[in-house]
Amino acid sequence: MRNELTLIRDMERILPRSRRKFVPGETPLRIAQPLFDREDIRIFVESSVEMFETSWIGIGHYTREFEDAFSSRFGGRKALFVNSGTSANYLALSSVTAAMAGVAGGNCLTTALTFPSTINPVIASGLKPRLLDIGLPSYSVDMDEVEGAVDGKTRGIVVPHILGLPQPAAELRHLANRLSVFFMEDVCDAIGGSYRGRPLGSYGDPSTFSFYAAHQITTGEGGMLLTSDRELYRRARSLRDWGKTVTEDEGEYAIRKLEHRRTSRLPADYDARFIFDTKGFNLKPIDIQAALGISQLRKLDQFTGRRRENFNSLADGLRDRGADDSLIIAEPIGGSDVSWFGFPLVVEKGLKRGRVVSRLESRNIETRPILAGNIEDQPAYSRSDFTRASKLTNTERVTRDGFFVGLHPALGSEEMDYIAEQLSIAVKL
Ligand SMILES: Cc1ncc(COP(=O)(O)O)c(C=O)c1O
Repeated sequence: MRNELTLIRDMERILPRSRRKFVPGETPLRIAQPLFDREDIRIFVESSVEMFETSWIGIGHYTREFEDAFSSRFGGRKALFVNSGTSANYLALSSVTAAMAGVAGGNCLTTALTFPSTINPVIASGLKPRLLDIGLPSYSVDMDEVEGAVDGKTRGIVVPHILGLPQPAAELRHLANRLSVFFMEDVCDAIGGSYRGRPLGSYGDPSTFSFYAAHQITTGEGGMLLTSDRELYRRARSLRDWGKTVTEDEGEYAIRKLEHRRTSRLPADYDARFIFDTKGFNLKPIDIQAALGISQLRKLDQFTGRRRENFNSLADGLRDRGADDSLIIAEPIGGSDVSWFGFPLVVEKGLKRGRVVSRLESRNIETRPILAGNIEDQPAYSRSDFTRASKLTNTERVTRDGFFVGLHPALGSEEMDYIAEQLSIAVKL
């Protein structure tokens, strides 16, 4: 215990160093940065000490606590912790499509403006992406266009809430129910946001989340799958854990063993812990990641609030300086409460994005493009079998003229004001 306390004290000394004074033009204003406090350090150190004491490294009670806390935030839906948001997406699509007939040759509606981790699992599951445009400045799909894109081969809808901006998840859920197709929400960029009074992630089944260090809360690497469907949860858990049989308790093990005796050629006494129901992966996290997740999740609303303040502060700063004439500032669809991932911008009036971005970078303000842009244009997809549901006018526009800057909670009004000032100068050069 003494050593544990020393460790915590030593690590706490790091905290003041991670909050250095802001020097305009010198302090790097990163695109993303996790915010840790004493509670994070304490639980992380405690879980690490426990790992060495028990001489085991893997999933344990912290994972179960994190999944339970996550599930409570989402009205008791089942939560499954995995080692990344990308893994959560692969798991989600594999679990959904494993139980579906007619996947081969079927299509899945999804946005052309996306991240590879959203579209790759769709392709890997044997579905053809049918690409939707997004609106500007909302970055969300138009329901008329979605309805028009549906054809006899549509099997599902998968949408990412791009940089936190909500898609019309309630309407998409409704449409998916009407068509009897699946609806998956990729909430990797948007945890903490809501639409029509319900948290993002509560509409899709399944829904997925990422806790990569650039996201609203972090476990280093990590992701979560959320579902209300007990069978889907079982399948996802089996697929996460090499394909092992999943049972809730020992009694169930015995029943499964009997089932397997009927359906497989394994010897009757074969250990049920090594019976494989599905052709699985290994997407398991370890407990120290979950420990951090527990303390980070407690701070989610505080972080989201800070991100909103930073968004408003930068948006006001740009409007006050008249820079909103030359830049499209994001505006979510009605009914949204955004958990901002970043501050997306699109240059207007023939301005060159490259010039604006270089000026910002030269002042130590980091920028990134809006995810992968139009996925059709990325080298890895040049031979991909996509169909377009419509013209991708806004997607192409964002690919050519869009970028984002950071607004994470380690930034405050001073930093946001500096970004507004530098952006306003950059668009007038
Ligand atoms: C929309 C979206 N989905 C999925 C992911 C993948 O998450 P991870 O980095 O945890 O694998 C990302 C990127 O982080 C993303 O932006």
